[in-house]
Amino acid sequence: MAPSTLRPLSLLINIDHIATLRNARNGRIPDIVEAAHTCLKGGADGVVCHLREDRRHIRDEDVRRLRHEIRTKLDLEMAATPEIIRIALRTKPDLVTLVPERRYELTTEGGLDVARQLRKMKQVVARFHDHGIPVSLFVDPEHRQLDASRSTGAEWVELHTGDYADATTARRRETEYRRLRSAAVYARTIGLGVNAGHGLNYTNVQRLAALPAIGEMSIGYAIIVRALSVGLETAVREMVSVVQRSRTARG
Ligand code: PXP
Repeated sequence: MAPSTLRPLSLLINIDHIATLRNARNGRIPDIVEAAHTCLKGGADGVVCHLREDRRHIRDEDVRRLRHEIRTKLDLEMAATPEIIRIALRTKPDLVTLVPERRYELTTEGGLDVARQLRKMKQVVARFHDHGIPVSLFVDPEHRQLDASRSTGAEWVELHTGDYADATTARRRETEYRRLRSAAVYARTIGLGVNAGHGLNYTNVQRLAALPAIGEMSIGYAIIVRALSVGLETAVREMVSVVQRSRTARG
């Protein structure tokens, strides 16, 4: 496929860690909306925030303000609990990404087991659709989970890239890369849009960005860390550049 015929790849920036920093002093800086605008200025296609049950970083007011101020894509990452669903329905993000949530985890660990809770997931997805909100399901790169995701009516899946990112040997990373590649192609074949995220950085993102089946990426931690050296706008701009160059380099 010639580069010019490649589908575009969107980059969404996860800004949870901006809120983590703010909460360290329980004040108002850094401001989450200002950070979101800076990400967009750096060329991001949208922002992601995760409203956790324990509100450890993003808070209800952040979600409300972001929705009010951000005209480009706002993806609200969330667990499918009654309280957070009510907030999401009120907020009307451009996309909700449903993730599993464990109270004591450092960050999201593993994908949703959609296949095991199919009935519940179908109901949750239908509820969002009734309110005109598209849904993405964060899943491990397994065909069984993709089939289940498709049958919920969700439009998107987000492939969990954590095992690929955390691989400590070249062999393991290759195995995980192949799993992701196969899952991305299969998801497209059955009509799902494909996002990918978790643990991606300026290096390991490159092979994934080159996969035409992946249409969107959600990246946070590596960009916020890089921002400490070069500033947020430049850190985002650098990631946009890496992702777009990888996309077109495959030829
Ligand atoms: N996607 C999902 C579903 C996540 O839970 C996270 C972490 O909050 C990310 C993407 C971004 O991961 P990272 O911060 O490691 O880039």
